[in-house]
This record gives sequence, structure tokens and C-alpha cells, in this order.
Amino acid sequence: MSSKASGAKRPSRPPSSASASSSSSSQDSQNTVARADQGGLVLRKLQAALLKHTSPEQSLLNCIREACAPTLSSPDFEAKIRKIKQLFFVRDFGGIFNDPELVPAYSAEYIPGRALCYRELFTAHDELRQVLLKDQGHVFALGAGAGSELVGLVSAMLGIDKFATYMQKRTAASAAADEIPGSEAEKRKLPRLTLHLQDIADYSCVLQPLEAAMRTHYRLPETRLTIESSVFDILDESPEAKALLLAHLSKATLVTAMFILNELLANNKKDCVRLVTQLVRETAVGSLLLVVDSAGSFSEVKVGQGNYMIYHLLDSIQGLEVVLKADSQWYRFPEDLNYPLRLNNMRYFLRLYRRV
Ligand SMILES: C[S@@+](CC[C@H](N)C(=O)[O-])C[C@H]1O[C@@H](n2cnc3c(N)ncnc32)[C@H](O)[C@@H]1O
Repeated sequence: MSSKASGAKRPSRPPSSASASSSSSSQDSQNTVARADQGGLVLRKLQAALLKHTSPEQSLLNCIREACAPTLSSPDFEAKIRKIKQLFFVRDFGGIFNDPELVPAYSAEYIPGRALCYRELFTAHDELRQVLLKDQGHVFALGAGAGSELVGLVSAMLGIDKFATYMQKRTAASAAADEIPGSEAEKRKLPRLTLHLQDIADYSCVLQPLEAAMRTHYRLPETRLTIESSVFDILDESPEAKALLLAHLSKATLVTAMFILNELLANNKKDCVRLVTQLVRETAVGSLLLVVDSAGSFSEVKVGQGNYMIYHLLDSIQGLEVVLKADSQWYRFPEDLNYPLRLNNMRYFLRLYRRV
């Protein structure tokens, strides 16, 4: 990424590539992300109470398993996963995401861990919960066709309106704090969120059954949550693609870039810098940008003679204020979860920026 990008300045604290990717103790000191705030613990308890017979995590996995059942049971599933892994190894991302045969297999294998992690993020932190509770909120999720953002955010929304009512009452000290009210949420006007899942690849064969499973299990009506999707290249400079991108950026209350910026940088630095510049220039003041990506050397960028982690470059952009940050964070899924494929713990970096 070039420091010539509009609004960007050179990172003031360039790490060596070794310390950036291997020293977890020094990195932990860079974390301002607590595991979960008090509200996160309350929401988690409420969700578990609403689900009764299963944990929030298992319920999420059940939805993915149900939606991906035909893919998971197909005889060539394992061969497809092997092919995907080979393509990842040589960083041929297009080879995976442009192949409609591989896309459903990719989702079945890769979205469970990420969705669990995103669910945790959106329940654990007040800044992210508030996004789900905003009236007329618009989440624009880049490179999100595979379904992790859909499943993670929708499962984080379970009971969140009741939770918000409860927290308001508790803060106002106007009600006893030892009981979660049942009907209070219905009395006030419910917020309405639009979740727009954007991707260069067409994942509709995955997104439709995922949405159906999530709506059935979580009983989220259209009036509370609208789910949209679009297929276009966010780096495309054609007037149509640019207009689409800018329209979403300008109305977004949150833009997410989960496991995509690093891939875009690897493919085309110049275009990626242009995209980041647009993200800053075209979003409204006060809106948020959430970036989550690999905490390992995959996220390193070569600038001049040095290697930098991509978040150091993002941190240095004028117009973005860091709200939450973690240079190296683990998502460790709870034991005793049941999914037909192996679940992997995930190490990631996180940045939540506010446009100022
Ligand atoms: C590693 S996957 C991450 C998927 C998802 N965000 C998640 O966290 O599970 C990267 C996604 O970015 C999409 N992608 C790659 N280049 C893109 C581009 N230029 N425009 C839009 N989407 C792109 C791919 O199709 C793929 O679905």
C-alpha cells in the first residue's frame, strides 16, 4: 500500500516482520479488546435462555449444517476441499471463488469458524451491538457472499431487542435488575437493519438456504432485518460498479471487510489502496469500519524496504479513529460442539474504526 493514497500517512511505528507475526505476548499488549463487556455477558445469558435446549454456538452450527446439507453429503465434497486447500496454498484465490463448483464446498468448510467468531464479536462489544440496534442501520459487508457475516450477525441478533430494553431499564434504575422482561421489547418501536452481502462471486446457492435456515431458527422477520446481496467486483472502475459501491458506502452505518483486504492487497496493491481511499472518503462521518483478517504473516504488506502488517497502514489513515483494536486475538470455540467437519480455532487481528 502506498503512502501516497489520499488521506494516508506513513505508519509511525513500523514493526519488523518477525515481531509483527510471531510474538504473541508483545502483541497482546496491543489489544484493547476485552473478552466481553458486562452487556456481552448479559446478552449471552439471555440468548442461552431463549434457546433453552442448545447453546448459541451449537444453534448457529445447526443452521449451517441444515443449509449446507446437500454439499456436505455429496460424494466429491472431500475432493473439492482438497482442491480448495491446494489453491489457497498457491494463493490462487480467484481459482476458488470464481469456480461455482467450489463455492458451496468453501462455505460448508470455512464459514462455521468465522461465523462463530463474528457472532462473538457482535455480542461481546457494545460498539458492535449498537450497530445491530440502530434504527435504519445499514451494514455493507464486502466480500461476504460465503455467508459467515450473515450467520454471525443474525445469530448475534437473537434476543438483542429484549436485551437493549433490559439494559436501558437497568441504566435508568427504573426497574429491578434481576429479571429480564419478556414483553418490553415489543412495546417500543423495533429498529430495522439492512445487511447487504457483497461479493465478486455468486454465492446465491449458499445464501438462500442459509437465510432460510436463520430466519426459521431465529424468527427474525423482514420488518426487523432485511438481507440483500449483490455480485460485483469492488475494484471494478466501470461507472456501474463504482456507482453501486459508492451508493452503499454513503448509506452504511458499518462497513465490514472480513478476510478480504489482505487478499485484495496480495492481488493488486494499487487497486486496494484506491478502495481504502474510497472507504474513507465516501462513508459518512460517525460510521464504522470493521476489519478482521489473519494475524499471521499473510497480512503483511511490503512498503519500500519494509514489511508492515496491514493494520499499521490502516491505523495511520487520517479520517479513521481506532475504536477497538487487537493485533492478535484468538477465537477458541467451546468444546462439545457438533459439526460434521473439524472446527479450527482462529487467530485474527481486529480493528474497528470510526469515520471522523
Ligand atoms: C477469504 S473469503 C472471506 C469471506 C468472508 N468475508 C468471511 O469472512 O468468511 C474472501 C471473499 O472475498 C471475495 N472477493 C475477492 N475479491 C473480491 C473483489 N474484488 N470484489 C468483491 N469480492 C471479492 C471472494 O469471492 C471471497 O468470497
